[in-house]
Amino acid sequence: MSTGEAGVHGIWRGRWTFILAATGSAVGLGNIWKFPYITGENGGGAFVLMYLLCILVAGIPVMMAEIMMGRKGRRSPIHTMQNLTHEFKAPKAFIGIGWMGAAAGFFILSFYSVIAGWTLAYAGKMAAGVFTGAGPEVATASFAALLASPWALMALHTLFLLLTGSIIALGVNRGLENGVQMLMPALFVMLILLFGYALTTPGFTQGWNFMFSFEPEKITGTSFVVALGHAFFTLSIGMGAIMAYGAYMPKKASLGKTVLAVALLDTLVALIAGLIIFPIVFSNGLEPGAGPGLIFQTLPIAFGSLPAGNLIGAVFFVLVLVAAWTSAISIAEPAVAWAVEKGFSRIQATVAVCGLAWLIGIGTVLSFNVISDKQVFVQVKTLDSQGEVLHSELHWYADVAALKASLPVQEERTYQVEGKTFFGMLDFLTSNIMMPLGGMLIALFAGWFMTRKSVADESRLQPSWLLSLWRFMLRVVSPLAIFYIFISGLL
Ligand code: PHE
Ligand code: NA
Repeated sequence: MSTGEAGVHGIWRGRWTFILAATGSAVGLGNIWKFPYITGENGGGAFVLMYLLCILVAGIPVMMAEIMMGRKGRRSPIHTMQNLTHEFKAPKAFIGIGWMGAAAGFFILSFYSVIAGWTLAYAGKMAAGVFTGAGPEVATASFAALLASPWALMALHTLFLLLTGSIIALGVNRGLENGVQMLMPALFVMLILLFGYALTTPGFTQGWNFMFSFEPEKITGTSFVVALGHAFFTLSIGMGAIMAYGAYMPKKASLGKTVLAVALLDTLVALIAGLIIFPIVFSNGLEPGAGPGLIFQTLPIAFGSLPAGNLIGAVFFVLVLVAAWTSAISIAEPAVAWAVEKGFSRIQATVAVCGLAWLIGIGTVLSFNVISDKQVFVQVKTLDSQGEVLHSELHWYADVAALKASLPVQEERTYQVEGKTFFGMLDFLTSNIMMPLGGMLIALFAGWFMTRKSVADESRLQPSWLLSLWRFMLRVVSPLAIFYIFISGLL
């Protein structure tokens, strides 16, 4: 079945196109939408530091291993893992990397597409001039109105998956390379422009301090798990996306430099996004912990006050849409490539994968309106007037509205009720469990089962102390770090 270096799916045309495609996969909603809001929810500076630490200790070594394994296998992650497991006489359980990754891909694509739909709506709202001179009230109300309409969200979700599917169906070379080449630089320019705006706002220092002042007491087990999960999500690693792209990477391209470039760009985009959002949050008296709506409630205020802001805002949301688009393609690629190897046409595979993601996505759409109160892992905390937790109780499942109504009114007592919606659950399961677990297995496989010689041949990492350092990271440091963060988060 294999046709030389290119395999069945094609191969990137050059070193730069791989970097572009991998950057296209990495830079997406994770950087511009998710990173700012989870940083806000987890208290700022300490979280940013944990996240950067996770990128260094687990993200970069695992990304190199995942690309290397993909390039060696030259097939979809499931088949690549079957072949590699056989070749290196590893336990069959490692094939699970491929299967779990494909499952994670369906889940991620299903909600990624819903959120990407929001950016589509916002491109339209900006162009229509909804936010000219708008303050925080207008921005907040406008976002609430969008979420309240399941039909609008469904239409946007459907549209985004059609866009994504049409590129995937075209295949790797024709579909991907051209678009990414032009649009990623444009996104970067827009971010710099907005950063310039943020610098002029009165809340800039406060925003900066929020992101970079380190308060160790804010480190908790759960926020560490979220930081680790985000390191995987933002680099597209641990679920096969980057393994699939690695399968189309030319042999001569340097692994280390490529990964460093992608990780650096991805981190830079996330940090700049944060330095745009938080100054606007503080300048307008908004809450940093506002959750998934954060960028949709802040950026329109900035655009609304800029000259030609309608136009700039529309262009900006289109660029975020494109960033999400190039990521979505890579999320679907492992499952699509697998189906193609099984004998289905590229089009059939695309329809099946996007169709299933569309179905699961209905749950995410409804979790912002019709079923928003139906939550799992609901934690109810009773606080005294000082904010000290007096009592805490966990419900596996609850209707949050009914639960809140049933809490007795007591003097000097307040309650905090926090659970996970359908969307929250999928997000937690994929980012914080499946991807780190996949990443740990990838590290263990490349570290303990692949021989030093074959890792050296495949990676061409020079000099040899660097190779040794990387293998040591894969064997010991990365898996232990992931394991430790997991355990401390669960307890
Ligand atoms: N890395 C992408 C982002 O930051 C999301 C993604 C996750 C892409 C998993 C591929 C695989 O938005
Ligand atoms: Na990213």
